[in-house]
Amino acid sequence: MSDDPFFPGTVLGVETSCDETSAAVVRGGELAGHVVATQDAHERFGGVVPEIAARAHLRQLEPAVRGALEEAGVGAGAVDAVAVTAGPGLVGSLLVGVNWAKAFAWSRQLPLLGVHHMEAHLFANSLEEPEARPPLVALLVSGGHTLLLHAAAWSDYRLLGETRDDAAGEAFDKAARILGLGYPGGPEIERAAREGRPGVYDLPRPMLSPGDAPGDPAYFDFSFSGLKTATALLVEEVREGGDRPLDDARPDLAAEFQAAVVDTLVEKTLRAVRHTGCRRVLLGGGVACNGRLRGSLRERLGGEGRLFVPSPRLSTDNAAMVARAGAYRLARGERSGLDLNADPSLPFPGLRRDPAPPEDGAAAPGGRATEAGQAGSPAPR
Ligand code: KG4
Ligand code: ZN
Repeated sequence: MSDDPFFPGTVLGVETSCDETSAAVVRGGELAGHVVATQDAHERFGGVVPEIAARAHLRQLEPAVRGALEEAGVGAGAVDAVAVTAGPGLVGSLLVGVNWAKAFAWSRQLPLLGVHHMEAHLFANSLEEPEARPPLVALLVSGGHTLLLHAAAWSDYRLLGETRDDAAGEAFDKAARILGLGYPGGPEIERAAREGRPGVYDLPRPMLSPGDAPGDPAYFDFSFSGLKTATALLVEEVREGGDRPLDDARPDLAAEFQAAVVDTLVEKTLRAVRHTGCRRVLLGGGVACNGRLRGSLRERLGGEGRLFVPSPRLSTDNAAMVARAGAYRLARGERSGLDLNADPSLPFPGLRRDPAPPEDGAAAPGGRATEAGQAGSPAPR
């Protein structure tokens, strides 16, 4: 079997894990139809309200599926299998998609597959860029997760680092609130930061010190909650100091906050590149939309590295990536039963958490040299 098999038919993908209701049709690795219905109702609360999200999914899912099928130019009868996000996510939201998918699969006697939301983010870019496949160092940064992993092959993942508290996207959302900006915070902070300069104010780069070594528990891990507190204290200082009104200082504060998060994400990713010898880096999740993150990673990777980033529509939550990940797993013969349940803490399939092997200098033969595109090495790790 190829290491990237596709289910030979039409896969309907369904995504309702958070506040995007989405349906997509994927055929042979090609995206044929796709609808993402964003829920604006959460904006005035400054975050996702689970009850509102679940109810909105109930209203929006059926039209989203109809829209995706219409765009693909097929009727429901043409669907050969259904893939649905089964976790992680908000349980009430997940349940809407899972139950809908179960009913659809049961009524038409179709194969059903529960997909892991973060593995779907890992697959997103491969819908647009066939080269975006393992071996990869992947930084998956969303509102709920921050994962740094090495994918030797699809289904063969090693976790290098993860957040110890807030996720990167969550940090953007919380900082936006502190700065008096709207939700979701990432795009708002990025917009404000365009008018400002990092370095006018000074925020910490969490979990980064020059003496860090690969054996240290914090070497690849992230932590953003201290940065959030530091931002809140700084904003308070600006408010009380009276030198500059907050409206005037906001762009510089946003720029410094964004730089602090990006510097940390980029440095940890570069550590993973050095450690694994793999210079093919993939970004996924909503924070991958951030221009400074993309630019800084591209620059640091240099000409010998390769950066894969999905378009914004496939970076934020969407069902296309769910159908794509599902098409891969269905082709391997995997199926979920009708007892499939929503699982807010679903384990990432194929992800090992074993300790990291020795540093890059001791990487397996062909490791770093191959990734750097140098001649004469076996297949890259
Ligand atoms: O992957 P995603 O759509 O949903 C989850 O699985 O959580 O990610 C949403 C997160 C939000 O926290 C949002 O603020 C962040 O992605 N985000 C951004 C940007 N666009 C979205 N963060 C930084 N810069 C952006 N341009
Ligand atoms: Zn997501």
